[in-house]
Amino acid sequence: MALRQILKEGDPVLRKKSRPIEKIDDRLITLIDDMRETLEKSGGVGLAAVQVGVLKRVVLVDNGEEVLELINPVIVSKEGHQEEVEGCLSCPNVWGVTQRPMVVTVSAMNRNGEMKTYTGDGLTARCFCHELDHLDGILFIDHAEILDEDELEEISE
Ligand code: NI
Repeated sequence: MALRQILKEGDPVLRKKSRPIEKIDDRLITLIDDMRETLEKSGGVGLAAVQVGVLKRVVLVDNGEEVLELINPVIVSKEGHQEEVEGCLSCPNVWGVTQRPMVVTVSAMNRNGEMKTYTGDGLTARCFCHELDHLDGILFIDHAEILDEDELEEISE
């Protein structure tokens, strides 16, 4: 495994659309293993392949119990609503309030090629949406209400 560098906002690659995975090969497994290590070191809860410069539809989501490996993920249902503060490893020191569904179900392939369905609420639901947006070149800052310094102080108190 190896750490990969996380691209930062302003890098044009982050705005590109990622391509579906057609076959699971050693390169893909290495990518996923490297992404796991990179996510672990970063202290974040999710990572999309495009953030390490690979335009493939692969994301990781740490749901607090395990790191889900999602290949070609799609959202199959959304329920409810939440308004919470969000950040992104590609946008260091930027925080903003986003509108997201409260419960999200995602269907994806795992590294063994099996189709799986995962349901998450709260932070995990936000993370599913946030990471899947990355696959279409969307960053949370595109639709978040960005917090200024005073607002940041308030929420950290
Ligand atoms: Ni992000």
